[in-house]
Amino acid sequence: PSLEKDFLPLYYGWFLTKKSSENLRKTAQAFFDELGSLKAFKKESKHFTSEDPKGKMDLTSHFVKRPPSVLHCTTKFTDFGKALGADEYAQQEIVKASYGKAFTLTISALFITTKTAGARVELNEQELLLWPGDVDKILPADTLPKGSRAHITLGCASGIEPVQTGIDLLEFVKLERAGTKGEEIEEVGAGKLQYFGNGMWMLLLTKKIEAKAIFSGYYG
Ligand code: 2AM
Repeated sequence: PSLEKDFLPLYYGWFLTKKSSENLRKTAQAFFDELGSLKAFKKESKHFTSEDPKGKMDLTSHFVKRPPSVLHCTTKFTDFGKALGADEYAQQEIVKASYGKAFTLTISALFITTKTAGARVELNEQELLLWPGDVDKILPADTLPKGSRAHITLGCASGIEPVQTGIDLLEFVKLERAGTKGEEIEEVGAGKLQYFGNGMWMLLLTKKIEAKAIFSGYYG
C-alpha cells in the first residue's frame, strides 16, 4: 500500500469509449443549437450575454472550454494522492477490482448554466459502489442522495474550472428536492425542456442515452 500511494492518478472515473464520446458530443451539439435558437431561451439570454442576440445565441462558443479527448465521468478527484480521502478511496477492494472494467452509464438529462454544460448520469447499484461518500454536497449540511453529483462535463465558459459542473448539477438537484420543479418550457426534439431560472436549463431525455465506459485513472 505504501508503494501504491505514490501512484495515485489525478482522478478516477469512467472514460467513455470513443464511439460513445462522439455520440454524446453530437447530442450535446444538437441541444446547444436547438436551445440557442429557442424563443424562450433568447428571452432569458441576459444571463449569458449582455448583447441582444438578434438571430441565434451561439452556445457552442459560450462553452469554449471543452474536454479535449474522450469524455469522462469523474468518481474521485484524488489529485495524485493529495486530495482528502484519496488513499482511502484508492485502497478499496471494489476500486481495485473494477479498474479497467467495462460499464454502461445511463445519461438521463443534459443541463446548462451560465458557467457549465453537462450530462447527468444515473448510476446503477454496481456503479454506486464506486461512488465516494463525500462528494454529493455543496455545503457540509447538505444531504442529497448518493450519486447526485454524477455527471459528464461537456463544456465550461471562459474562466470556469471543470470542477464547477458537478457543483452546478448539485444546485439543480437541491432545487428539485426543495420542490422547485423546473418550469416546463416545451417539448424539444430529444425531450422535455425545463427552466429553473438564473440561466439554469435542463433537458430531460425521452430516450436515455446508454454510454459504454471503462473505469480507470487519469494521470494527465
Ligand atoms: P469534472 O469534469 O468531472 O467536473 C480534471 O480536472 C477533472 O477532475 C475534471 O474533469 C474535473 O471533473 C475533476 N475535478 C477537478 N477538480 C475537482 C474537485 N476539486 N473535485 C471533484 N472533481 C474535480
